[in-house]
Amino acid sequence: MGELHNNKVVWVTGAASGIGRAVVEEVLSEGGRVVGSDLPEADFSWAEDIGEVFVVSGDVSDPEHNEMAVKCAEDQFGRIDGAVLNAGMAGRVDLFDGSIESFDRVMEVNVRAVVLGVRACSRVMRPGSAITVTASTSGMRGDPGMWVYNTSKAAVINLVRSASMDLAARGIRINAVCPGPTETGMTTGFEGQPYEDMRRRIPLQRWGHAREIAAAHSFLLSSQASFVTGAHLPVDGGMSANSGQFTPPAFSL
Ligand SMILES: NC(=O)c1ccc[n+]([C@@H]2O[C@H](COP(=O)([O-])OP(=O)(O)OC[C@H]3O[C@@H](n4cnc5c(N)ncnc54)[C@H](O)[C@@H]3O)[C@@H](O)[C@H]2O)c1
Repeated sequence: MGELHNNKVVWVTGAASGIGRAVVEEVLSEGGRVVGSDLPEADFSWAEDIGEVFVVSGDVSDPEHNEMAVKCAEDQFGRIDGAVLNAGMAGRVDLFDGSIESFDRVMEVNVRAVVLGVRACSRVMRPGSAITVTASTSGMRGDPGMWVYNTSKAAVINLVRSASMDLAARGIRINAVCPGPTETGMTTGFEGQPYEDMRRRIPLQRWGHAREIAAAHSFLLSSQASFVTGAHLPVDGGMSANSGQFTPPAFSL
């Protein structure tokens, strides 16, 4: 067990599965304690016997849920030192005649909720605290048929840049992690050829694991990143380094 987050209290949204769960496990393994929040129907059975994890149910796009999660951190553990605003949803809406309410919902969960989360925790965080946001490589470029998701993730990248300046005046850092294709609940629909096609576009020739994304969050939360704020870090096997003109070479090991 490491000591990177010794006695730190970290709030993680979307904590029940995928990247969020991996962040919880990473923070615990480095000596921290966690308030994990997720939707009421989310499965937190894996966290039941872990004393250092307190679970809060609700929807991140609801301001009260955000306030409640931060209050729980203070009530249960007496402080909050970090927040990983990770909950998010995919969403495909036809550009020409798709429902505009579906667009609104993706923006609510992927952008509005991050604003609410930043507001809720930064009010009580002390100087030296840090926030990370799960954006996406989809926020750095466009994807066919995914304009809603692309728009929402681009918005949080620039939200992080802008907010970093206001938060710096309070001694709080904020950064974004941009995962590439990662095996989680969100991507279970990618099987067979679509999975393989995506794999081939990644220079490291494989999908990412949730723990690899969690490691980036962990670094950015920690004092090792004490001079890093307003940044967005691609964790994507090199995918975003490619201009898109050529398919990366296959391994010839
Ligand atoms: N998996 C990928 O390839 C990938 C790539 C880039 C970015 N991301 C981002 O990573 C983040 C985590 O997703 P994941 O891949 O771990 O998927 P996941 O489905 O395993 O986890 C997402 C979690 O967020 C929760 N959640 C969704 N909407 C919520 C809401 N309104 N309120 C509270 N909780 C809510 C879900 O219940 C779930 O537990 C998301 O922001 C996603 O956009 C994922």
